[in-house]
Amino acid sequence: MNFEPQIPEWGLDDFKNHQDKLFEYHEWLKNTAIKTGLISKKTDQFIWDEFIIHSLYFAKLIKKFKNLSECEIIDLGTGAGIPGIPISIVNKTNVSLVDNKQKRIYELERLVKILNLNNAKPIKKDAKTILKEAKNSIIVMRCYVSTSNIVKTLEKKQLKDNNLTIFVSSNSQSSEIFNSMFHVKQEKFLINKNNFRYIDVITDM
Ligand SMILES: C[S@@+](CC[C@H](N)C(=O)[O-])C[C@H]1O[C@@H](n2cnc3c(N)ncnc32)[C@H](O)[C@@H]1O
Repeated sequence: MNFEPQIPEWGLDDFKNHQDKLFEYHEWLKNTAIKTGLISKKTDQFIWDEFIIHSLYFAKLIKKFKNLSECEIIDLGTGAGIPGIPISIVNKTNVSLVDNKQKRIYELERLVKILNLNNAKPIKKDAKTILKEAKNSIIVMRCYVSTSNIVKTLEKKQLKDNNLTIFVSSNSQSSEIFNSMFHVKQEKFLINKNNFRYIDVITDM
């Protein structure tokens, strides 16, 4: 099957000039990340569309919703650096890559040196601890927890007015109505010509 490293129309202006570094990350995912068990075996196209392009839409939404100079970006349950690494490639803000598995953190430390990413910092920590303390932050999560779980956690901890914006990948169009003190808005986008994905944006104001 031919590999086509496409960038959808929504990303051409913002991300096209970062394509070389995104390719380098793609190489690392398909070689090192698969070999070391950070991701399971996938086709080149799947890695590009589902991991890299999907991550770029988080970066696009961050730009749309937040003044980046105000906040730090935290990727909870980052695994192989998804979406945190592509976000740190396409903007200069500091990105914390948080995972509770030391092996993943070691591999990510090697990766940020290979890609020469001075703004990406792998951190071994429990995401729950970070959520307890989070303030003035942009939190991104892909395939880590569901929106309803994260909203429940935020409510339990009364994390109101902490200037948090949380972006969570979502499997399908949400029909759930959140009766919540948090505002949830769903964004729908194409990762290639045919496939849509969803990211929920949760705000506390
Ligand atoms: C399904 S993977 C998703 C990885 C990546 N975000 C992606 O989209 O491919 C979930 C990741 O969350 C990490 N994780 C699970 N529980 C965690 C916790 N309590 N704190 C931090 N990381 C956690 C796992 O080690 C794993 O790397």
